[in-house]
Amino acid sequence: MRKLLVIAVLALSACASQEVSRGAVLYADYCAVCHGEQGRGDGPVGAELPLAPADLGVLSRSNEGVFPRRRVMAKVYGYPGRFEFMPEFSAVFAGPVVMWKDDTGETSETPRALLDLAGYLETIQQN
Ligand code: HEC
Repeated sequence: MRKLLVIAVLALSACASQEVSRGAVLYADYCAVCHGEQGRGDGPVGAELPLAPADLGVLSRSNEGVFPRRRVMAKVYGYPGRFEFMPEFSAVFAGPVVMWKDDTGETSETPRALLDLAGYLETIQQN
């Protein structure tokens, strides 16, 4: 029984790390130019903008220590055109969709790739 549990835990963490590494690739491809390789808001294109890209390493810190996953995903995907300085990314996430349940229990159809990206961003949070 314990062995099974260990296998289940290993399988789960393998899934989580796959999510994170897929997210890291997306981040490097689409976000680093503005937000910087480490997410500190210091990418080469970002420096040219009239408004500095956000430091993506402090999202949890500025949200009482909790990673604001829904807000982050909405920012990147949910409200195209609302943020004039960020490109429209919905085409990037035009892959498989899964049902995602947030902390409040609300479920929504969410692109797998968007969850991957958010999973990666969660790992770069500084406390
Ligand atoms: C062309 C430059 C540019 C690119 C590319 C870009 N961003 Fe941004 N981003 C910005 C700017 C500028 C801001 C701050 C102004 C604003 O909120 O619109 C911002 C803000 C954000 C915020 C809001 C942070 C907060 O405090 O709420 C998030 C999250 C974010 N970006 C994530 C991403 C992700 C993930 C990607 C890649 C899919 C990305 N951005 C690509 C320029 C960019």
